[in-house]
Amino acid sequence: MTGQASARLAQALWKVYRRPERPTPWASGGNLPWEDPDFSRRMLREHLDESHGAASRVSAERQLQVDWLWSRLDLKAGSRLLDITCGPGLYAVEFARRGCAVTGVDFGPASISFARKLAESQGVAARCVFLEQDVRQMVVQEAAFDAALFLYGQLAVLTRDEASALLTSAASSLNSGGRLCVELLDQEKVDKNDSSWWYTDDQGLWGDGPYLHLGERFWYPDHELSLERYQILHLETGELTEVQLCDQTYSAETMSRMMREAGFGSVKVYPAWDGLPLYDAGEWLVYLAQMP
Ligand SMILES: C[S@@+](CC[C@H](N)C(=O)[O-])C[C@H]1O[C@@H](n2cnc3c(N)ncnc32)[C@H](O)[C@@H]1O
Repeated sequence: MTGQASARLAQALWKVYRRPERPTPWASGGNLPWEDPDFSRRMLREHLDESHGAASRVSAERQLQVDWLWSRLDLKAGSRLLDITCGPGLYAVEFARRGCAVTGVDFGPASISFARKLAESQGVAARCVFLEQDVRQMVVQEAAFDAALFLYGQLAVLTRDEASALLTSAASSLNSGGRLCVELLDQEKVDKNDSSWWYTDDQGLWGDGPYLHLGERFWYPDHELSLERYQILHLETGELTEVQLCDQTYSAETMSRMMREAGFGSVKVYPAWDGLPLYDAGEWLVYLAQMP
């Protein structure tokens, strides 16, 4: 380690020491740095790692979800499907293999590039469009889709206003009778205790060299929001990365009302993935909203 890196590390430690006690929700963005090319490249490894389902569920579980979604969204060969925050396209390409015309939107560069290659390797590139875009800026053609997906809790990393706007835009993208599936953490099951943890790694999600990860979780009862603050000390360079991840929770009543306000007619809520045997199914509520 150079003298410069040691000095930076010492500064970083003081910065950690002097951190504000409780961060202000959304003040530092509130999402993981998915668009950062290096983070996206490292995150892609996690999406594809079949030993855990932290970034994308493992393939056996995805298969169960795809079967469930196929019938609940009333999909058929030829259906037009929008996958909001599609990641590396693991769901989108499977639906395309079944004959759907799929548009996937995500702002992770490595994920979108992988999704395009996956579609090609599966011979379904002609039925897939993958857009590298922030879904908050997504401009959709009216009534262009029969169904839409918003899986693995990503509506929660948007502020309430952004979530309402996105639901409105999803509604307008669907034709009459079109269905949207949103998967969100069950507010009643969310950990509402403050906590902290640390670990070290030689390389991993947070860096290509050795680092120390310091994590804290805070629950904000007034906002019904959980915030995780990560401080990563990169030991070889002395750099400090700080990330704050907000998870806005909703009661089933509030989310159902927001969906109706966005233009959906009926909303059904399925606790615990309707009994699908996913390892973490009990933590989730699945909403199926249908256009009038
Ligand atoms: C947990 S991953 C799930 C990906 C995919 N739905 C799956 O289950 O395999 C969350 C994804 O949401 C994307 N994402 C989060 N916020 C986004 C935003 N504002 N715009 C576009 N993509 C976003 C990330 O890039 C990431 O690919």
